[in-house]
Amino acid sequence: MTRTCGTMHRMPTAMGWWCGDPEEVRTGAADVADALACVGTPVFAVEVDGAVGVTSTGRATLAAEGGGEGYRLRGYAPALAPEQLGDPEFRKDHGVRYAYVAGAMANGITSERLVEAMARAGMLAYFGSAGLDPARVEQAIERLDGLGELPYGFNLIHSPNEPDLEAAVVDLYLRRGVRRVSASAYLGLTLPLVRYRLSGVHRDASGRVVAPNRVTAKVSRVEVARRFFSPAPQDLVAALVQAGELTADQAQMALEIPVADDLTAEADSGGHTDNRPALALIPTMLALRDELQAKHGYASRLRVGAAGGIATPASTAAAFALGAAYVLTGSINQACVESGSSDAVRQMLAEAGQADVMMAPAADMFEMGVQVQVLKRGTMFGMRARKLYELYRAHASIEALPAAQRAVLERDYFRCTLEEAWAQTRAFFAVRDPRQIERAEGDARFKLALVFRKYLGQSSRWANAGEPTRQADYQVWCGPAMGAFNEWTRGTFLAEPARRDVVTVARNLLTGAAALTRASWLRSAGVALPPEAERFAPREAGALDRLGGAAATAVAEGIAN
Ligand SMILES: Cc1cc2nc3c(=O)[nH]c(=O)nc-3n(C[C@H](O)[C@H](O)[C@H](O)COP(=O)(O)O)c2cc1C
Repeated sequence: MTRTCGTMHRMPTAMGWWCGDPEEVRTGAADVADALACVGTPVFAVEVDGAVGVTSTGRATLAAEGGGEGYRLRGYAPALAPEQLGDPEFRKDHGVRYAYVAGAMANGITSERLVEAMARAGMLAYFGSAGLDPARVEQAIERLDGLGELPYGFNLIHSPNEPDLEAAVVDLYLRRGVRRVSASAYLGLTLPLVRYRLSGVHRDASGRVVAPNRVTAKVSRVEVARRFFSPAPQDLVAALVQAGELTADQAQMALEIPVADDLTAEADSGGHTDNRPALALIPTMLALRDELQAKHGYASRLRVGAAGGIATPASTAAAFALGAAYVLTGSINQACVESGSSDAVRQMLAEAGQADVMMAPAADMFEMGVQVQVLKRGTMFGMRARKLYELYRAHASIEALPAAQRAVLERDYFRCTLEEAWAQTRAFFAVRDPRQIERAEGDARFKLALVFRKYLGQSSRWANAGEPTRQADYQVWCGPAMGAFNEWTRGTFLAEPARRDVVTVARNLLTGAAALTRASWLRSAGVALPPEAERFAPREAGALDRLGGAAATAVAEGIAN
């Protein structure tokens, strides 16, 4: 017989009892905020003479019912180290201390220096390989080899316009033993991606299938997520067997593992984005994870991380509260000193508010009408890129452009004639992908697209280089996260671009998320908190160390062991 609990829906009057010195129970707003921020120490909310205050001293007894000795305990927040947030299996599998990832940012904006800083701090970062030629990516591989066993990865970006490039990057990763990629911009799965995932797949002594190459998918659509959380498609596996890339045994093994172990649910973010709200997207992806885990019975559990809009302790705490295995940031890292961007861009980013972003045509999928989220404030790029797309839609060739429009393009955008712009584009593709030139010479509209894409491509390079004569054309990928970060850090040391470093930023988000999570526990227990306790101001590294405390480190190590 099921026994229903009569008291289940009533607010508890006390959750237990506390014994200690009542003088140590503080009610001041700053005291409450400080107690919650010391995430390495438990907090008791205790009622003394009718007022509820907090203390980290004394001894508490938790009780479901009945009387007890001492003062009434009104709430309890155990220590919560930043290392405890997220999925312990994620941390263990990737060998990281924190469930925190810096996402890939193209053209080396997630630079070697950024990846190194993160890896040394026990966090994961993906080098920004997109937009770089394989020789430049190989340089990064060589340098990052120096990190040895520390965790890091590379971006594998789907390039529908340049399928050979995607295949060449996979060749490079396999040849150089790159073991971890973030696969992004995929709508369907491709042969190179599946080849990367299944290369070297084998059974261990216990018969379990082991894939040496880890794939984390970055996805904002459920139907794409479904493909990544399923075994590799049979037709692609068969093609790999046919090509001698896989044995028949390995093809069988492919049925037992998903294409991606981890999947980052990307909500409204900088760069490529479907502008999905995280609150809607993440629960859907978690449900999909559970459905496909149950359907395929994988030996390892699938995991979902959260990205898009994460920039404050509150949004970090919210992502973990939703059930994210890890959080991933982008826009805020571009604003940090280690990014491959320029000081000019870092300054522009420091001035951005949440509404200072817009969608603009993407260079890589221009003709398909795909858009990216970019900074609007301080640059005319977004408007200019939209104009180029409009002209591309309306006209079939360079020659068909109206004279007045063409004059504006030549004067303001290209600063040369369109014939000269084509000659430069041609020279670029002669090295990178000569087939594009052949196609353009027989297809006037494609030629127009290539010339326009040249402007879009250069505009992000000017931004990265801080080219002073081209500030009005800077293409800076950026999401609303940047404005949220600026609001949170206003008036603190992190407001200064030169003092933003990725590790201090990440540790502040995680420590702040732990503090706010503890505040929410007390609030849920019915403790009225002052507004100060619901905020976490940025702190320098040394001050963060002091908040963690030995207790939290011990807890985290206990979990890691
Ligand atoms: C400047 C910039 C460049 C980016 N380039 C890439 C890229 O090349 N590949 C990729 O997978 N994601 C790219 N992203 C997305 C980030 O890796 C990350 O998923 C996203 O920025 C997270 O959302 P947020 O901007 O709200 O933090 C880029 C984002 C930014 C801001």
